[in-house]
Amino acid sequence: MSALQNLLTCLRFASVSTDPAHHPEVRACAEWLNGHLNTIGLSSQLHETPGHPIVLARNVHRPGRKTVLIYGHYDVQPAEPLEAWRHPPFEPTEELGRLICRGSSDNKGQFMAHVSAIEQTLIEQGELPLNVILLIEGEEEIGSPNLAPFLAQHGAELACDLVAISDTGMVAPEVGTLTYGLRGIACMEVVVRGPGIDLHSGIFGGVVANPLSAAASLISSLHDADGRVAIEGFYDGVKPIADWERENWSRLGPAREEYLKLTGAPELAGEAGFSERERLWARPTAEINGFGGGWQGEGSKTVIAKQCFFKLSMRLVPGQDPERILNLASEHLRARCPKGITLEIKPGHSGQPYLCDPFSAHGLAAQRALAESFPNHPIALIREGGSIPIVQSFRDILNADTLLLGLAPPDAQAHAPNENFPLATYEAGITMSKALLRELARQG
Ligand code: BES
Ligand code: ZN
Repeated sequence: MSALQNLLTCLRFASVSTDPAHHPEVRACAEWLNGHLNTIGLSSQLHETPGHPIVLARNVHRPGRKTVLIYGHYDVQPAEPLEAWRHPPFEPTEELGRLICRGSSDNKGQFMAHVSAIEQTLIEQGELPLNVILLIEGEEEIGSPNLAPFLAQHGAELACDLVAISDTGMVAPEVGTLTYGLRGIACMEVVVRGPGIDLHSGIFGGVVANPLSAAASLISSLHDADGRVAIEGFYDGVKPIADWERENWSRLGPAREEYLKLTGAPELAGEAGFSERERLWARPTAEINGFGGGWQGEGSKTVIAKQCFFKLSMRLVPGQDPERILNLASEHLRARCPKGITLEIKPGHSGQPYLCDPFSAHGLAAQRALAESFPNHPIALIREGGSIPIVQSFRDILNADTLLLGLAPPDAQAHAPNENFPLATYEAGITMSKALLRELARQG
């Protein structure tokens, strides 16, 4: 099978980790992957977890060689809203040189580039130039609840010198991009309760607090007029942006037009005093991801709903701890909860931010591999706004730093309808992964 055929097979599994209706497909994807990795000459095993299985494969390890752990995830986000897709979401379809499919850039196209690079290197050279562990999990999109315990249990088997991941973006197609920082995350769901039953808003309006109004005022209390998060203590300990980073990021050119185009928003917004890239990559945020309750149907229904909810996620940067931030946010909301309203606060996913040195010996090897495979432009050194919580756990549990060699272009539409991945990037990704193995081995 060609590298492309293997990617297409992987993409056809609707491996949506959050949705029980898709769980058989999640397992089928893991089983296919496990079989495929054994076929290309690795020794691969499926490891059961309380959730979705982990696929773990390795080549023949030789003492004295460096060991790299390559991580990826075979689970994907739900495809909904289905009507917004131009093609069925799990039938990869080529359009203008890109494969349109859920999971194509996040993360199947990216990790399959590494798998194909390993396959080709084994065919061309008979063996890999260093010890490789391939760890592909099925729960990244639901916060990797079972992976950190797995790392702790299998510490000896997973011992490595570094981790390499392609699950981030490129600043532009053809611009090799090394990401040395990720934001962390802290999520919560808040249920806002008032009266014991839904009430007629004429008969009772004026004597009880309205849960939807309370939620709206709580939500608006999260930011001040300058777009800063107004939770007391939120910015305590936030690591300032280094001068070299500011200079480096501003050299990537103005970002306003690009983000207007990518987002479709009529104007950009955010914390005053920082550029777009600084706000995205190195400043924390608080975002409402969901808000519901009351009459959602057509026309008006004069009701005071007994309850409503909102979902809050905060992106964190080095110096912030998810647990501490969740506590601060809870205190902030409770202190402002109006009379006649009660709050139930349910903490959700969380993950530590990550920062490493792009000029370490391994970082320099990654830069060389990127420069070789994306030769037309200088490579970009960036941080990213998204989160891969397990990256800090690799450092804490395996004592290994992570190189993030992203392959998704800015308009890959991860998590959104018509997610896509350029075929040319898949090919370049295979070249990059081969070069990375070579450069890491050479660097000794
Ligand atoms: N691949 C993304 C993370 C990402 C994307 C990092 C782009 C940097 C740049 C990953 O699959 C993802 O979506 N992560 C979630 C984590 C959450 C579910 C805990 C995120 O960032 O929302
Ligand atoms: Zn994702």
